[in-house]
Amino acid sequence: MKVLGIETSCDECSAAVVEDGEKILSNIIATQIPFHAPWNGVVPEIASRKHIEWIYAVTKEAIDKAGLDVKDIDAVSVTNRPGLLGSLLVGLTFAKAFSWARGIPFIAVDHMLAHLYAPRLTGLGNDKPEYPFLGLLVSGGHTIICRADNFDEITVLGTTIDDAVGEAFDKVAKFYNFGYPGGSVIDKMSQSGDSSAFNFPMPSLHKGDHRYDVSYSGLKNAVINQLDIFKKKKNAHSNEDIAASFQKTAVNILLRALLNAAEDTGLSTIVAGGGVAANSYLRSCLAQQTHLRCIFPPIELCGDNAAMVAGIGYHYLRRGEQSEFNVTASARVSGFKKKYP
Ligand code: KG4
Ligand code: ZN
Repeated sequence: MKVLGIETSCDECSAAVVEDGEKILSNIIATQIPFHAPWNGVVPEIASRKHIEWIYAVTKEAIDKAGLDVKDIDAVSVTNRPGLLGSLLVGLTFAKAFSWARGIPFIAVDHMLAHLYAPRLTGLGNDKPEYPFLGLLVSGGHTIICRADNFDEITVLGTTIDDAVGEAFDKVAKFYNFGYPGGSVIDKMSQSGDSSAFNFPMPSLHKGDHRYDVSYSGLKNAVINQLDIFKKKKNAHSNEDIAASFQKTAVNILLRALLNAAEDTGLSTIVAGGGVAANSYLRSCLAQQTHLRCIFPPIELCGDNAAMVAGIGYHYLRRGEQSEFNVTASARVSGFKKKYP
């Protein structure tokens, strides 16, 4: 079965064709970074408009690159939650129109579950995880530690109680004018920085009900509050030192919650997904946990892409499930973010 995937939940306009949930025939990702960079963050209105302008051409390119004709597409899978509402609606509406025009089924899927599915795609040289495993979903909007028993069956163990980890990278980069997008810029800068130059605090969130939860607003504010002091003592430390010290603490917060979950559940396979899963320091820290098997998607599948959407969609469709034309988009999914206390 050849499934067309459509992903427009944030600022990547992506379409892909995946065969039988595994083999990527094409995966076109048109990034809007240059359009959001002047604002140092995603502007929802611009994102929706760019998706409307691009979605047809991106989808055509995905079908062409797969060496197929529209008639060869058997079904459509599209992200309808969570994400920026206007952006989601563009992809969802396009997918419905495609499905209706071709008389083929379509399925609306969860973006975070799709991220967790990414390492199961083949043709990429990665090893495939078996269920159950511990999921680490780290993106610009979410930070989730979960137990995964199937592609559509997760139990959320921990989440952020305020900001997502990717959001913290983006905000710190924005305040220090490091560049955009913040995560990859900080990752690169950190490689030549001294991570012990600044001692940023860890949240006191590691007990009881919050054993697997994380918090980033305290760290974000501590780093931002350092800005004035930092500017005055410019010669003492470099931008790279700030970046590396922040990144070390941000990753340590994740590791503490994740290792608690691994110990308590006895699950020793960890599957990471989402944009922050591209982070080189997170990858190297987890590689050092030799008692755990840590599986990361290849870098090109960590960020938003339609291949993961087509891949997971296949499994619903194979079970005979499909969405109705009145299905709508949701900005949020309940349970993906915890409140404190
Ligand atoms: O999954 P994703 O592409 O979009 C969302 O679903 O949010 O994740 C985007 C997030 C952004 O916050 C970006 O700064 C972060 O992933 N990111 C990184 C890296 N590459 C992207 N964060 C840390 N290190 C990276 N190398
Ligand atoms: Zn994402």
